[in-house]
Amino acid sequence: MQIYTYAHLQGVLGSCDVEGMATLLNILNKNSPFIIGAKTAATNATLIGNFCNIRNRSGPRFKSTGKIIMTAATIHLAKKENGKDLQDFQKVYNAIAKKLRDDKEYDDHTGYGPVLVRLSWHSSGTYDKRDNSGGSYGGTFRFKKEANDPLSKGLKNATDFLKPIFDEFPWISHGDLYTLGGVTSIQEMQGPKIPWRPGRVDTDESTTPDNGRLPEPYGDAHWVRNYYDRFGFNDQEVVALLGAHILGRTHLKNSGFDGPWDDDPDIFSNQFYANLLNEDWKFEKNDAGNMQYDSKKGFMMLPTDYALRQDPKYLTYVKKYANDQDAFFEDFKNVYVKLLENGITFEKSSPTYVFKTLKEQKEFKKS
Ligand code: HEM
Repeated sequence: MQIYTYAHLQGVLGSCDVEGMATLLNILNKNSPFIIGAKTAATNATLIGNFCNIRNRSGPRFKSTGKIIMTAATIHLAKKENGKDLQDFQKVYNAIAKKLRDDKEYDDHTGYGPVLVRLSWHSSGTYDKRDNSGGSYGGTFRFKKEANDPLSKGLKNATDFLKPIFDEFPWISHGDLYTLGGVTSIQEMQGPKIPWRPGRVDTDESTTPDNGRLPEPYGDAHWVRNYYDRFGFNDQEVVALLGAHILGRTHLKNSGFDGPWDDDPDIFSNQFYANLLNEDWKFEKNDAGNMQYDSKKGFMMLPTDYALRQDPKYLTYVKKYANDQDAFFEDFKNVYVKLLENGITFEKSSPTYVFKTLKEQKEFKKS
């Protein structure tokens, strides 16, 4: 049974007095089977709403009952996986990493790493800080509405890749698997270690966010800044996050954009920033009629990528990361963890796992 603590309510009930919190905790803990996940959002809202109304009658102890009702409706509490520990999740990591190693020929020998990273991003990229909806928690990318978002074309390759992993480890939630797929891929493609926390819970189909929350690639810096404000990311975090566009490529058949960002699309590095600064870019129409930036070496940039070079505030970080891979790795790690965990409340005691790469484990070292 889930026990709620003050930590769970902090941030959610910022203006609630201590006595009020204690009473609410009592209610939550007595009724905890009804409070887990967005599945029972309506129940949560009613319960907490009733409570707030009662308290408000005896004095304005909360700044805004409405806000509390709305926020409480989407508390996403990480659930402890019964009996599962680092070793169990390392086994899942290893299964993904071994399959990455075995299926190397996908997409002109790039392998599945980039498309798995993109899946981890799209399954988290529906987050909206205003009502704590969307995000990786409910694993709703498994439902047609989300998977068929036109902006996610091509990601079926990633969910198909993960299917046998899910069959082997049926106890893992979809949200945990989609995010762990990205973490594994980044580490196996020579990227930074990504500390990862389990506990996402599959929520039902009704919690699937509508299409329209993922970004179109046409916007300028102002648009990009405004878009990522929905996640709570600042300029530095946006620039660090978009460095993931060193991986993989754009495909005409998926997005109507064409070409890779670099000629090492399966190695995670800071080269995205160096290319952005140093290549001679031409803004031209591709075969699908979309405008993109192309370089003589055959690399490309989306308009949203190029915006990082055009905006003076973004440019400062582009230069910093182009010159300092360690700084990029550190900042990317931090913002990527934020992306994958947005909207989830973890208990203070919940464990953080850092996985060993296959190379670091003797038994999997390649001969
Ligand atoms: C303004 C934000 C973003 C826009 C507009 C955008 C747009 C795109 C587009 C159009 C593609 C090509 C898809 C295809 O044709 O197959 C793509 C690929 C990709 N994106 Fe993004 N993206 C954004 C942010 C991100 C973020 C935050 C990440 C990860 C942290 C990411 C990771 C990737 C990866 C790894 C690929 C390559 C996938 C593959 O090779 O199949 N993107 N993105």
